[in-house]
Amino acid sequence: MTELPSADSVGDLIRQRRTNLRMDPDGAIDEALIASLCEAAVWAPNHKLTEPWRFAVIRGSARRRLGEAAARGLMDRGVTDPARLEKTRHKYERAPVILVVGCAANEDPARRLEDRDAVAAGIQNLLLTATAAGLASYWGTGIAADLAEVNQLCGFEPDTAIVGINYIGVPTGEAPVPGRSAPVVNWVDS
Ligand SMILES: Cc1cc2nc3c(=O)[nH]c(=O)nc-3n(C[C@H](O)[C@H](O)[C@H](O)COP(=O)(O)O)c2cc1C
Repeated sequence: MTELPSADSVGDLIRQRRTNLRMDPDGAIDEALIASLCEAAVWAPNHKLTEPWRFAVIRGSARRRLGEAAARGLMDRGVTDPARLEKTRHKYERAPVILVVGCAANEDPARRLEDRDAVAAGIQNLLLTATAAGLASYWGTGIAADLAEVNQLCGFEPDTAIVGINYIGVPTGEAPVPGRSAPVVNWVDS
């Protein structure tokens, strides 16, 4: 079992994790560390232990292939703006590692919902572990998450739902901290 990066306090970690794309696109990340992020994900709560998570590590020139697929997806949907298409082609080259996390299909609709919840919880585990390791991270979705071509590129089954296209890298700056409202909590005692 991989050793996971440790943090002093869960509270600090939760507040330190920010959606942050300020990262070195060429800063290599140790493969063992990437593996530990995936391992952290699979410790998420998972009803019936269906283990629905699927992972693909997209690096090097595969990042450009992912961008090309996203641009084709936009064109299929009628987008013609050349600047937007060109930006999309290169968007995944902003991080050294794109960690795509999918959710395997389940024929039971209730289980499918629960499995996706488990995968989302797994992604939060993954992001918090990246924060503990001093990495910047960014949970993205967008058009690429809905393309059959991207499932194929990731080596996923065609019916796998992509839940997160996560940018992971060595930070070059801090992201602004978007505030949160105080939670509205109903305390129900009787
Ligand atoms: C399911 C999901 C999908 C997201 N997709 C995107 C995205 O496509 N683009 C983006 O800029 N941020 C995306 N985010 C990140 C949110 O914008 C971000 O969490 C929010 O702005 C709050 O910032 P924080 O994470 O730093 O607290 C996504 C977050 C979640 C949970």
